[in-house]
Amino acid sequence: MINDLWYKNAVIYCLSVETFMDANGDGVGDFQGLQRRLDYLAGLGIDAIWLMPFQASPQRDDGYDVTDYYNIDPRYGTLGDFVEFTHGAKQRGIRVLIDLVVNHTSDHHPWFQQARSDPNSVYRDWYVWSGKKPANADEGMVFPGIQKTTWTYDEKARQYYFHRFYEFQPDLNTANPHVQAEILKIMGFWIQLGVSGFRMDAVPFVIAEKGADVKRLSKRYEMLRRFREFLQWRLGDSIILAEANVVPKENLKYFGEDGDRLQMMFNFHVNQALFYALASSDARPLIKAVEATRERPATAQWGIFLRNHDELDLGRLGEKQRRKVFEEFGPDKGMQLYDRGIRRRLAPMLDGDRRRLELAYSLMFSLPGTPVLRYGDEIGMGDDLSLPERNCARTPMQWSAEPHGGFTKSRRPVLPVISGGPFGFEHLNVAQQRRDPDSLLNWMERLIRMRKEVPEIGWGDCVPLNTGDDGVLALRYDWRNNSVLVVHNLHSRPVEVSFVAGVGEHGNLLIDIADGASSDADANGRHRLLLDAYGYQWFRVGGLDYLLRRREI
Ligand code: NOJ
Repeated sequence: MINDLWYKNAVIYCLSVETFMDANGDGVGDFQGLQRRLDYLAGLGIDAIWLMPFQASPQRDDGYDVTDYYNIDPRYGTLGDFVEFTHGAKQRGIRVLIDLVVNHTSDHHPWFQQARSDPNSVYRDWYVWSGKKPANADEGMVFPGIQKTTWTYDEKARQYYFHRFYEFQPDLNTANPHVQAEILKIMGFWIQLGVSGFRMDAVPFVIAEKGADVKRLSKRYEMLRRFREFLQWRLGDSIILAEANVVPKENLKYFGEDGDRLQMMFNFHVNQALFYALASSDARPLIKAVEATRERPATAQWGIFLRNHDELDLGRLGEKQRRKVFEEFGPDKGMQLYDRGIRRRLAPMLDGDRRRLELAYSLMFSLPGTPVLRYGDEIGMGDDLSLPERNCARTPMQWSAEPHGGFTKSRRPVLPVISGGPFGFEHLNVAQQRRDPDSLLNWMERLIRMRKEVPEIGWGDCVPLNTGDDGVLALRYDWRNNSVLVVHNLHSRPVEVSFVAGVGEHGNLLIDIADGASSDADANGRHRLLLDAYGYQWFRVGGLDYLLRRREI
């Protein structure tokens, strides 16, 4: 049962209420502040907002440790403010997705408190216990170097409890039908309050078998179908976007062979190859990753991203490739995290080089899938490596040159706003970039408009073309008799390449979507293209008559 496939071609913008805009001056972002910025987001042209966790929480993992799934953290406002916000977003045609963190709760959650205090409590079996310390307690940590174990002894329960993440995030026993029913209830609740779906946290762990005797991580994929079915019964066009960093051969298990499980997944495979391509000027592993993740049901879609709120996880690259990315983008120990990733924002990784930033975002917006942009990236925000772990890339939005970047009137923002240096709010902020027609912000707005005019990317078949240069990536998308070609030069020098665009049916003219310039193939059907250093171009492909009819030129 599918009503609308809006997510096949959308631009998603991820933000944290806490650090976006503070309206009441207490130093913490809130829903009223976010509400005031809705016109800014509508102007940018995004289709959906993904809100990071905002439910009641002791905030030991930035809200990924929930104490009440049916309420919001009072620092951000009230449920009333939330509904005002979803209504305001709806008025502007913007959908809202929210984080759904149900692999675990906070250890302060009343369910866990009752479970540990009373062996006869119905909540005891909502968590995963063991009388003895399991043999594998020192394995499977998600935050190596910081997290010591996956089983912690609880004095009150006199048992060990399982936690895939930090010890204050006890795993829910998702095999328990009551827990499953509660997950559906949580989804149903937020759907009623106006959201269009969920970014589901840690999906492979949600569906994994959990327990002291579990040797192999077997998964209950069937659960995913039940989540989807329930959602669609309640609201036909609502979706689940899965955080699932898995190998390509598992993808279909998450999407469902017939597209009957989750609608979207983040493409971690392409993400890592993309960073390798940017670091090495070698597009071959990226093409491989695009091909390895090509197969998906027609109604399923990838979320394509560059950086998110976590570290850039390079765990799936080969050793040599990983070393190359570290060398280029995170050479110092302080830039790295959990032995597998880089914790910086994109702009500082690329030395704030506008050409490289445009190249990276042009790629992100033109790889097969739906682009997911992180707040602040549209103005090229930096990071603060003096902050612990992933907080360095979670600093408040830089709105203006006013104190604290116009984020808050309080003297103590929840996290310090980046000040001084090339990424300081004093000169890197929204107000300044709005006034400058050449700013990254205005460029991003144009890129978003262009992406929305090219639905072929979300819907079409993607064919890599041979350019004869491993550092030049050319992808053609074919959909409903239309073809679009995107070309990216990963080299730091200009290059000339030649290729066969290879559509033929309507002719072989290339029309640059940005400036309308056209070029035809030579007598052998080959195009020659001169690309600037880190240059990129998006084309429509076809014959003159055909493109005129479509009003493309
Ligand atoms: C993945 C989230 O992206 C991350 O920020 C969080 O720490 C873990 N899941 C645990 O919820």
